[in-house]
Amino acid sequence: MVASFAHTVRGGSLAGELAAREPALAARLRHGLEASEERLRGLAAEAGDPCVARIVGHLIGTGGKGLRPLLALVAAEFGERDPGAAVDAAALAELVHVASLHHDDVMDQARTRRGAPSANALWGNSVAVLAGNWLLAKGARLAAELGPEILRLQARVTNRLVAGQIRELTGASSGEDPLSHYFAVVAGKSAALIAMALQSGAIRTGAPADTVEALAEYGEHLGTAFQIADDILDITAASEVSGKEQGKDLAVGVASLPVLLALADGGPAADELRELLTAAGRGREDGAVVPRAMALLRGGDALAEAEAMMRARLALARGALGALPEGAATRVLYGLCDVVADRDH
Ligand code: IPE
Ligand code: IPE
Ligand code: MG
Ligand code: MG
Repeated sequence: MVASFAHTVRGGSLAGELAAREPALAARLRHGLEASEERLRGLAAEAGDPCVARIVGHLIGTGGKGLRPLLALVAAEFGERDPGAAVDAAALAELVHVASLHHDDVMDQARTRRGAPSANALWGNSVAVLAGNWLLAKGARLAAELGPEILRLQARVTNRLVAGQIRELTGASSGEDPLSHYFAVVAGKSAALIAMALQSGAIRTGAPADTVEALAEYGEHLGTAFQIADDILDITAASEVSGKEQGKDLAVGVASLPVLLALADGGPAADELRELLTAAGRGREDGAVVPRAMALLRGGDALAEAEAMMRARLALARGALGALPEGAATRVLYGLCDVVADRDH
């Protein structure tokens, strides 16, 4: 299993601080994460047919950073009811996430996910897409059990997520600013679900409406920063660390933020990068494109510019936390901004 965000609670530096200062909260979060993982495994096993159960459970079995379940459980701390009521909301956010990973790996022709072969690499694109659909349908059933508000939220967020993925594939329309297009894509494909994890966790424990709203705002900004970090890591993180192929965005011609910024910076490096990515986008990746594109990106300012944009989003995320009551859960949310800023996988 790729070292996890959950790990930041179980054993990382945030966890260390939390365990020392707030042992009761640390234990509740650890417990909740384990319970939501167990719930997910149980949901995949509901497939009945052992072959289907193996396929839909494949990514669940390989684990992940667990950011979304963690956020649902932290948000649950702002309500009056037992935070254990948010375990299913945590499982729901991860279920939708895993479904989106199945679809995303088909879009990106990814061979590796979470340090293991992707579902499409093992069983082909059709099976991977259908497994994603199975997981989304299971998510809808789970959401229905959690009540109409969460069901509506889950449906709206799934629509946003898929629309974001479609807009990434179709690209900016003529005359549309590429950066505005990028941020619209990211809001849909990544930030919406991260916000949903927080909202649904807080709704489950009856948190006040203005708290749910502040958590949603925080989640939208944190989620955007998280995706920018992911775009940077595509260029800077080795596969053994990220659990994904390094340079995949470059290999398939995805317009990640560093690439957009490098192109906007202009000059001969931008011209060469544009040519390389056009060839990659047309499937003419010959093994030399990715290393050369990486070298061009590392030699310019785009990575630092992208990092500055990520930090600006994290500042907005921290700003949204000002509306929340002071306490251990709010401190964890501040701490997660630092975890995203410093993430290496
Ligand atoms: C990957 O999300 C997709 C993005 C939104 C960048 P994660 O980086 O949270 O993936 P896992 O869950 O740890 O595998
Ligand atoms: C995809 O973003 C987000 C979703 C899965 C919807 P990326 O394409 O950057 O995610 P990775 O890098 O493959 O995890
Ligand atoms: Mg991808
Ligand atoms: Mg990525």
